Amino acid sequence: MANPILKVEGLNRYFGALHATKDVSFEVPEGQIRSIIGPNGAGKSTLMDLICNRTAPSSGKVIFKDEDITGLAPHKIVKKGMCKCFQITQIFHNLTVYENVQVSRINMNKKAFNFLSVRDNYLKDEIEHYLSIVGIQDKINEVAGFMSYGDQRRLDIAIALAMEPTLLILDEPAAGVAREEAYKLMDLIHKLGKEQKMTIMFIEHDMDIVFNYAESISVMSNGSMIATGTPAEIKQNAFVQEAYLGGVSGE
Ligand SMILES: Nc1ncnc2c1ncn2[C@@H]1O[C@H](COP(=O)(O)OP(=O)(O)OP(=O)(O)O)[C@@H](O)[C@H]1O
Ligand SMILES: [Mg+2]
Repeated sequence: MANPILKVEGLNRYFGALHATKDVSFEVPEGQIRSIIGPNGAGKSTLMDLICNRTAPSSGKVIFKDEDITGLAPHKIVKKGMCKCFQITQIFHNLTVYENVQVSRINMNKKAFNFLSVRDNYLKDEIEHYLSIVGIQDKINEVAGFMSYGDQRRLDIAIALAMEPTLLILDEPAAGVAREEAYKLMDLIHKLGKEQKMTIMFIEHDMDIVFNYAESISVMSNGSMIATGTPAEIKQNAFVQEAYLGGVSGE
């Protein structure tokens, strides 16, 4: 296996009496596209939030690029190259598309901020670059909150890409997006992952998308990570067959 970029060791999280992630351990090799699947309430989103410390673990460790980052402030984890898309919540709805990506670049301290340069199309070329990657460069001056849901998802990804992540985490990137749009978005994410040698973890319920794009799949059930394998291996997994492929949907 290629060098793991991420190692998770024995992650537990309780919400009161509820044991939401149960002693979860797994690794993701550098450059891999990994899907995390499992029924509603299995603990997938909680696990991703524990990894980027949006939720503090009750116990366990997160090792990113050979460094123990457990308990590190989320913005410091972002600066180390781990970035999660937030299902639009990181978009400033009253700012333009341009301003949204600009804020993301400035926050990363990639560029210094000053009011004179902001007036003078500050960072315009690189912002256009990120917007063209996700295909919304023509919407650069639109107010983000007025765009379609699909375009907001694209902007969300552009904001994340502007932070130049080495590990990108996506929680249901295709949710709420029309099927054709979802495939376009996944094609794009896949292409970027390969071009920029980015490691990608994505949670997804749509098994067509999972089996089309994932190189490796981890399955969660009831707080536990019950299997990790290639798409071919996971297709044969009895739990996955029952929950997803035998007609009894996890949804
Ligand atoms: N902040 C919280 N407080 C209390 N319980 C929570 C909290 N966040 C999640 N949970 C509970 O933890 C369990 C796991 O939830 P989580 O959102 O991680 O599941 P999921 O696998 O992402 O599900 P879905 O596929 O529906 O998004 C659920 O029972 C959920 O109700
Ligand atoms: Mg979830």
